[in-house]
Amino acid sequence: MPDFDFIQAAQGRPHDRVPIWIMRQAGRYLPEYRAVRGKVSFAELCESPDLIAEVTHQPINIFGFDAAILFSDILLPLEPMGQKVSYDNGGPRLTPPVRTPEDVAGLKSFDPAEKMGHVLSGIRAIKDRLDDIVPLIGFCGSPFTLASYMVEGGGSAHFTEIKRFIYNHPKAAKTLLSRLAEMTGEYLKEQIKTGVDCVQLFDSWGGILSVDSYREFSLPYIKTVFDICRTENIPRILYLNGTRPYLPLLAELDCEVISIDWRTDLAEAFSILDGKSIQGNLDPQILFGTAELVEREASKILEASADKDGFIFNLGHGILPATPVENVRRLVNTVHSFARTS
Ligand code: CP3
Repeated sequence: MPDFDFIQAAQGRPHDRVPIWIMRQAGRYLPEYRAVRGKVSFAELCESPDLIAEVTHQPINIFGFDAAILFSDILLPLEPMGQKVSYDNGGPRLTPPVRTPEDVAGLKSFDPAEKMGHVLSGIRAIKDRLDDIVPLIGFCGSPFTLASYMVEGGGSAHFTEIKRFIYNHPKAAKTLLSRLAEMTGEYLKEQIKTGVDCVQLFDSWGGILSVDSYREFSLPYIKTVFDICRTENIPRILYLNGTRPYLPLLAELDCEVISIDWRTDLAEAFSILDGKSIQGNLDPQILFGTAELVEREASKILEASADKDGFIFNLGHGILPATPVENVRRLVNTVHSFARTS
């Protein structure tokens, strides 16, 4: 495999230009993606290795991003655990919700090589087509984020049910989190065996917890996942939405990259996470602004990271469906034409 800038930056090693990819880069802001979704549902798309490969490639071909990310969803492995996952009206729904210690005891274990075979076939199809132009990122949800969806039964404004569950049934909650950590670690291991070059864990909802609760209910399970899937030369990225209060805890985590949101100061993150690579952190809403705004805000991030080998440009969270495609093109050009100083 060639020395990709993305992998070099993730490992904190010298490289030529700042690599960029963006979360949800294959998604509804792209007319080419909407054309595929006009023919099949999201669930059907996630089950077809050919279509997975097609949409994973779209943003690489269109913008020249430095990494591809497997097209799939963090909630899919919850099906073989026994919950029905649907994406019909708006946000995802998980039924029946997990609300009691008995519900946790009733969840099933499964072999990811068997039950997630369509996703693994998707990885093979992507790799065939990518032909080593760019590396491929595999991913999973963090145990706490997955548990939030399972207990809430979908997205949530206040996270009342997951908080009620962890505070009133801490033992059952920890059993659930351990099972999710085991499942997620094994699933990532299988993705790596099948060919992904890097893995990212999405802790999208960990940021609702106090620092103490994060230390108790999210971080140890992330550590388990990263220990299980640890493989030489495969960088491990943790994305945490609302990163700032947890930076000192994350400094201790054994992984190569922390992906930070836009509220987190980049210089402060470099200083606290000393030695780790950083990914981020443009506010996705900046992409709704003028060309000048996009270039100015991207340049600020580039300047703040110019002397670091361990930096990957990304957004602070996923790209939004109404984002103008032209601004994505501008962003990639701004990043790729930047002269690094390290
Ligand atoms: O980044 C990528 O391009 C890879 C594919 C990917 C998707 N979801 C595709 C998707 C990835 C990495 C995810 C992760 C994911 N899924 C997360 C973590 C990242 C984050 O945003 O915090 C979460 C929380 C989910 C759960 C999920 N899946 C939600 C909340 C939704 C609906 C939100 C929405 O935008 O409608 C999904 C569905 C989903 N997953 C879509 C895509 C492109 C939209 C589906 C469609 O085409 O209608």
